[in-house]
Amino acid sequence: MNINEMKILSVFYNTDPLLNIKEYTDSLSLDIDKYQEPEKALESPKKYDLVLVEHTPDMLDALAFVRAFRHMYRETPILVLIDANDIATQEKVLRLGAFDVVCKPLSPVLFQVKLQNTLKLTKAESLLNDKTVLLQDEIKNATQTFQDSEHELLSVLGKSTQYKEHQNDKHTLVVAHCTKLLARLAGLNEKIQDVAFHASQVYDLGKVGIPDALLLKTGKLSCDEFEVVKKHAKIGYDFLKYSQNPYLKAGAVISFSHHEKFDGSGYPIGLSGETIPILGRIVAIIDVFEALTSEKVYKKAWSIDDACNYLIEEKGKHFDPKFVDLFMENLDEILSIKKKFNLVT
Ligand code: C2E
Ligand code: SIN
Ligand code: SIN
Ligand code: FE
Repeated sequence: MNINEMKILSVFYNTDPLLNIKEYTDSLSLDIDKYQEPEKALESPKKYDLVLVEHTPDMLDALAFVRAFRHMYRETPILVLIDANDIATQEKVLRLGAFDVVCKPLSPVLFQVKLQNTLKLTKAESLLNDKTVLLQDEIKNATQTFQDSEHELLSVLGKSTQYKEHQNDKHTLVVAHCTKLLARLAGLNEKIQDVAFHASQVYDLGKVGIPDALLLKTGKLSCDEFEVVKKHAKIGYDFLKYSQNPYLKAGAVISFSHHEKFDGSGYPIGLSGETIPILGRIVAIIDVFEALTSEKVYKKAWSIDDACNYLIEEKGKHFDPKFVDLFMENLDEILSIKKKFNLVT
């Protein structure tokens, strides 16, 4: 381990104790600042790797110095040069947080070894800290990469159903942004808003299990045909329900519940009111608004006004009234999301 050029603060009253091991300190090119007045030493703006202070009764109080220095720096090791017989002060100074004592009269060999060991320890700690920071960085990057690809996969899954229906795949992102917006306006926390954004993209995934002849039928579906299409809610749920991934789990819940209606007349099982999962209630509004304002193989696009009137008509019937209110109160923001993806003129 390279302990060259480390920074040392040395405080002594009379003769510089480091002169006893000068050959050694020179060989390491240590950067040594020397002070005879502890107050001046404490004012030094530098950050040191090791502090050396000589306790000289009546002249230089190492106890006071250690106490004051510890106030400023909690970790920097302090070596105290102190009379070998003064056990009481040695104990006190160690209790105050000195790293070790070096006894006087000085043995240059022991002094050199203690200095070297302390410098090595300091160096090792700082290397370890650097490595920890590096590792934390790497973990952060790896986590970010993982999350990005997780999010990307959800968006690809979501787009696949739009593709099957010959729809603009930007609808998926409009649904995601609008769902997150309503989740935020409803006061759900940021974690749930994030889940709302990514999980809502797979709300119609079950449609990949529905024959194209039905999804792409230009005319109105017969009752039997509609019964088949309705299965997409349960199919999407079955795709996703065993996933351990929180987004896919939420996607399962949204798939299952996005065609339930507030008054209990929806499908697949006719849940009503707040027994319908909250993200399902949110996606229900966004889905219908998007479907109405879009041109589909089976219908023309409605105007924004007509679609809004429909939402208001269905308030408390198809839709949770509080989300219809939030939707209408924040229509500008909804429309600016649609504009951003060129889905409104
Ligand atoms: P989608 O096209 O994504 O429509 C989602 C929901 O928006 C519909 O759920 C419905 O609640 C609402 N919606 C869409 N268009 C209209 C409309 O013209 N009038 C009214 N009042 N509401 C509308 P829904 O009804 O459960 O349908 C689920 C899916 O079944 C639809 O998803 C679509 O893929 C298919 N579908 C429904 N009706 C027809 C149809 O007449 N022809 C064809 N080819 N597919 C249909
Ligand atoms: C498209 O723009 O490709 C489809 C039209 C629509 O759904 O708005
Ligand atoms: C909630 O905000 O999570 C509870 C209220 C509701 O389910 O609508
Ligand atoms: Fe659906």
